[in-house]
Amino acid sequence: MAQVWLPSELQSYAGGQQIVEIEGSSVRQIVNNLDMAFPGLKECLYDPDMDQIVGSMAVIIDGETSQLGLLDKVDPASEVHFLPAIGGGASSKVIVIGIGPGDPDFITLKAKNILRNSDSVAGFTTVLSVVESFIPHENLIKLTYRNQEELLMQLAEDAKEGKRCVLCAWGDINFSASELIERIRNKVEEIELIPCVSSVQIAASRSGLKMEESIFITLHKRSEDDDLEELNHYLNEGNRNIILIPRPFDLMPQAIAKGLIANGQNSSKIVTVYQKLSMSDEVEWHGSLEELCNYDSEFSDLSIIVIEKAL
Ligand SMILES: C[S@@+](CC[C@H](N)C(=O)[O-])C[C@H]1O[C@@H](n2cnc3c(N)ncnc32)[C@H](O)[C@@H]1O
Repeated sequence: MAQVWLPSELQSYAGGQQIVEIEGSSVRQIVNNLDMAFPGLKECLYDPDMDQIVGSMAVIIDGETSQLGLLDKVDPASEVHFLPAIGGGASSKVIVIGIGPGDPDFITLKAKNILRNSDSVAGFTTVLSVVESFIPHENLIKLTYRNQEELLMQLAEDAKEGKRCVLCAWGDINFSASELIERIRNKVEEIELIPCVSSVQIAASRSGLKMEESIFITLHKRSEDDDLEELNHYLNEGNRNIILIPRPFDLMPQAIAKGLIANGQNSSKIVTVYQKLSMSDEVEWHGSLEELCNYDSEFSDLSIIVIEKAL
């Protein structure tokens, strides 16, 4: 059993004991078992809205400050100390949440709970439009490309004051959201990433493609020489489906089709363009590279191209 050290203000729950022996192989189990042994302790240690240890408490396991919180492992011989966090408050922390592809029903319950219980929620206007129906208006910080640095500083200041702060990104934060994540990472002591559903996953579901037979390419990131080089490479290889993110607005589907044909790809190759996936005005375009090249309407900036591998 692990040796658990309680801070003086919580020792009354355990009949005045400073050290108690508790079973559990993770911090979460230790907290739950502490509460079984000494009812009421969980309420002091655990924040159910955020599903984490309360911000005013630090957990030290065998001399190391816990980084994973409830998920951190505990050995039977471990010493676990619960200590009031230095300064009496949480370290400055911002939670970065992916809010899904547009339909609010794709926001996970975990993300919704965090958002509902936050004091400040920042994001670009389109991103916030997906969440603003369930967050008090005064909590929203609307970013624009021009003011983002300044407003993210404000969010970081809120976090330093102990407010619960969230930064929302589109889709899943693990797909092409690194620029925004880096902007907040260097302003606070800690960030936590909460993923949601990506537009890439929705595109795979719409087309019925297996992710394990597919590759994901984004053109958002500019390459030094030829933006279409990687795409051409995998098309030539032909053994993977390709899920492709175009680049608004200089490398949109028509320009991509044109570039591929110029690079020698077969102009009769069939591609699908999914626009505004999961939204009420979602549209799907299907045709050959040549037809795409000559298509004379604008595609939405929320578009994903799928090119299936040859059978
Ligand atoms: C910067 S990336 C962010 C991707 C996002 N993190 C995700 O997981 O979906 C933005 C691009 O994702 C694609 N995208 C995002 N949402 C979409 C949607 N609902 N329908 C189609 N494409 C979408 C578009 O190509 C858009 O330009």
